[in-house]
Amino acid sequence: MRVIVVENYEEMSKKAALMIASQLYLNPKSVLGLATGSTPVGMYEELIRLYESGEIDFSQAMSFNLDEYYGISKDKKQSYHSFMKETFFDHINIPEDKRFIPDGLAEDVENECRNYDKSIIEMGGIDIQVLGIGVNGHIGFNEPNINFEAKTHLVNLDEQTIKDNARFFDSIDEVPRQAISMGMKTIMQSKKIVLLASGKNKADAIQKTIEGKITSDLPASLLQIHKDVVIIVDKEAGEKLSRRDI
Ligand code: PGA
Repeated sequence: MRVIVVENYEEMSKKAALMIASQLYLNPKSVLGLATGSTPVGMYEELIRLYESGEIDFSQAMSFNLDEYYGISKDKKQSYHSFMKETFFDHINIPEDKRFIPDGLAEDVENECRNYDKSIIEMGGIDIQVLGIGVNGHIGFNEPNINFEAKTHLVNLDEQTIKDNARFFDSIDEVPRQAISMGMKTIMQSKKIVLLASGKNKADAIQKTIEGKITSDLPASLLQIHKDVVIIVDKEAGEKLSRRDI
């Protein structure tokens, strides 16, 4: 696990974007694992800037998102389909049929999940997976007490997550209670992982992820046994760390 503590959100975002850019230079056909939430927005902005200035090209790349709310249509503004479209996909050139996000309205959820994992494997596996982290240590929507062996599956959202995500909805009652998420096993199969965190409210989760024991109470702690993880945090998210390899 490599930990990089940077000054602020902007620096975190730029470093993360450069890692994605390097991956594309190494292999233009890379399979990117993408995340939603506030944390990666700056990274997406930087990637768009690199794309617009001609420095990177996504035309041969493809992407798999971590998760989608269950029971929400793609067109609803809070769906992760909409988020990805507005924040990233509309501004770069990953071909439309090469952008995968679980279908939150799938009638046969088990089948949807099975096919999602199957597609990832068929495309050669995820080359680089971007992750945010929840205040409760979740990655994707793998909430505390998750089964570490789970692949993509339907999950119940934690109370903390429902509260944290209420800011995107008109009221907390509108936040979906379930989601389809890549499981821990799916995430751990990614060849490279970049986890991003910024702000004081993530400091506890980051300290436990890096320095705590591996436990399903803090799902991100499993990353300690992945062989190629980079964690980029700003000063505030890293303030409780005793270990700093820069
Ligand atoms: P955030 O969410 O980036 O909006 O803080 C991260 C997460 O819940 O994984």
